[in-house]
Amino acid sequence: MKIAVISDLHIGDGARSIDLIPKSLIKANHSENNFIKRFSEFVKKESITADYLLLPGDITNSGTETEVLHSEKVLQELQSSLGGENVKIIYIPGNHDIDRSLTKCDDTPSFETIKNNTFFSSLNNGLSNKVYQEPYFYIWEYDDIHVLGLNTSWNISNNDRPKHGYFCHEFSFDLENQLHMLSKSSLPKVCVFHHHPILYENAWPGSDFSTLQNADALMNILRKNKFDLIIHGHRHASHFQIDFTDLIHPIVIVGAGSFSKTLDMHSAEHSGNQFHLIEIGERNDEGHLQGILKSWKYSYTWGWQKNNHEKKVNHEMKFGSCLRKAEIIEKIESYIENIPIKENIISWNEICNAEPSLKNINNSVLNESLTSIKDKTGFEEMTATNKELYLIKKRL
Ligand SMILES: [Fe+2]
Repeated sequence: MKIAVISDLHIGDGARSIDLIPKSLIKANHSENNFIKRFSEFVKKESITADYLLLPGDITNSGTETEVLHSEKVLQELQSSLGGENVKIIYIPGNHDIDRSLTKCDDTPSFETIKNNTFFSSLNNGLSNKVYQEPYFYIWEYDDIHVLGLNTSWNISNNDRPKHGYFCHEFSFDLENQLHMLSKSSLPKVCVFHHHPILYENAWPGSDFSTLQNADALMNILRKNKFDLIIHGHRHASHFQIDFTDLIHPIVIVGAGSFSKTLDMHSAEHSGNQFHLIEIGERNDEGHLQGILKSWKYSYTWGWQKNNHEKKVNHEMKFGSCLRKAEIIEKIESYIENIPIKENIISWNEICNAEPSLKNINNSVLNESLTSIKDKTGFEEMTATNKELYLIKKRL
């Protein structure tokens, strides 16, 4: 199963390309164009398709009718590129999807414009509308996945600075009851909301007050109910992290960054505009969901390129194995001890075929483990031009 993740488009004059801006908002300084056309070409060239399209908020820049109508057109084009009407769209509002022209200073935010749009209100048979009102969450139960969507912008007024998020815990009893009904299911469990649940290093040059303020309350519920993935937006730089707080069930956290906003220098340097595809596999014997997050970065000069040497998110981030470094080292050393002495090159795939528990090790844990075995085994890692990983015996 494949989930495409596109966040923080900021359709309106926050977007980087003319085709993402309604005609009436285009200004003389907007010069880039054909963003969507280039995305469609990239998706076609890479043969990318998706079963789901997750949108964790800020699809518009200010929630107005003009922007919502333009977003509708853009979303239909994105859906069509990724596989047509079979691609199920799951959208959760962000703080920029509040129609500020309808929201008075101290009032609860108005999502009326996007909520009343025919296209948005028809998503998921109209069930998306549940997130605009109490209890501000909804659980989509599909045949192959369960998705909990939360509106973390439900109480942001025009006066609030910064626009931090809040989990509406008044309804956590209802939420836990509904999640309890799914406790026997082995389907992947994904939670999607807008604000970031943890403070990220390097995510913002100064202090960051715009996180999900009571994230711990939500995280405890997600840990208890064995959620596999959290997908969020809000910060415009992408992130990948595995939460292993309870030492039993890891939760993969994907900060999607921004798909198409004109970025400040910090976010542009950190990750640039991002598109992600999450490929979800089976659960392993320990019950951990196996998968890969694939990420691409956009630049006007180069178009969509694989993320490469990013500070946090490389092109392929594996998840699903919770082997400790010592266990990984033991397994690799044991494999090497049993190969013929004259063998100088071993492919990583070959090792994984013999020891499948090594398949979905997180990139940084694997790199550290391979560095540690260098001196003892005489083998060091090398990535070939085709991106395959090999262990090569050092010349003495
Ligand atoms: Fe945003």
